[in-house]
Amino acid sequence: MHILYNQPAEAFSTFRLHNTLSEVILIDELSDLALVDAQQPPVIIGEGSNTIFLASQVRPLLRFLAKSRTVTANNSQHLELHVEAGHNWHELVTWAVTQQLWGIENLALIPGSVGAAPVQNIGAYGVEFSDVCRYVDFYDWQERKVIRLDNNACQFAYRDSVFKQQLQGKGIIVAVGLVLFKDPKPVVTYPGLDTLPPFTTLEEIYQQVIAIRQAKLPDYKVIANCGSFFKNPVISESQYQLLQSSFAKIPGFSVESGIKVPAAWLIDQAGFKGYKYQNLGCYERQPLVLVNYGGAEGPALLVLINLIRKTIETQFGILLEPEVRLLDSNGQHYVES
Ligand code: EPU
Repeated sequence: MHILYNQPAEAFSTFRLHNTLSEVILIDELSDLALVDAQQPPVIIGEGSNTIFLASQVRPLLRFLAKSRTVTANNSQHLELHVEAGHNWHELVTWAVTQQLWGIENLALIPGSVGAAPVQNIGAYGVEFSDVCRYVDFYDWQERKVIRLDNNACQFAYRDSVFKQQLQGKGIIVAVGLVLFKDPKPVVTYPGLDTLPPFTTLEEIYQQVIAIRQAKLPDYKVIANCGSFFKNPVISESQYQLLQSSFAKIPGFSVESGIKVPAAWLIDQAGFKGYKYQNLGCYERQPLVLVNYGGAEGPALLVLINLIRKTIETQFGILLEPEVRLLDSNGQHYVES
């Protein structure tokens, strides 16, 4: 266990707002979690690709770095893996593709750690983390032990899970159990993948996903960002029909709870594509991604967020919810008043 003090927040969030983190606890062994003060549990961070520190942090943060990958079952049809939370997600995808294992190739190039994947049930191009998850191991601060949650218990939904709800702040994800498949299981219905030839290979899908992401999404190492900033809102069928009468081209996709409308389309229609506010902006190739061109600060980001949300609400009657985790100075999730 190592503790770092007064760290620049830019090094711990790919949005790189200029702030200070008073204490960062780095843990590389599961047994060291027993040393953490359970009465004042730290805020858990991964690689910072979905977390924005709106202000300097007064509470300790904790990053779990153990990253082993173990095969736990292997038969003619599938392979099961136990992967510790500190493993990088994209490296896991790349390894799976080189091993000819199907299931996560559509999730290539998603930044962040394996431990962060279940929290918001990462998803892209028709596949979600929940599709391959057998279990999640969660170290509970009060119980002082690892509890195993099966797929059902994780309550996975669109960019949501029990770890963002009831279990938020109660512990830390230390490992995940995954199942990957040996027989081809291509998911190529999403626009951009539907042009691949029949009997496409695992490598082709993987390379195509990487190409689409690189064409649309800014590389956070070059332009600071945290990927999609807002969730795609789900509205009722009747609200969607009403909107269609004013906006004939509004896209919508049927989901269990209603119609999912691309937030990117709403932001684009409202004229924010390529919009700049101080040194922040809506990325010109995918306006759902807010970017920090350098040196941005929390208060300015809040102004931009509120401007986008209010404008969309006025024009379409839809209130966008952040997809990224926005933390106030006390590590609490920021909620707009
Ligand atoms: N659109 C526009 N203008 C644009 C870009 C997009 O109107 O400039 C509209 C189009 O109608 C387009 C639609 O938005 O068809 C959807 O765009 P896209 O395929 O880029 O996907 P998205 O819904 O904006 C979601 C995820 C992404 C994921 C992609 C692909 C969320 C919040 N975002 O974006 O995830 O990569 O689908 O599956 O669900 C992330 O979570 O950080 C992320 C990048």
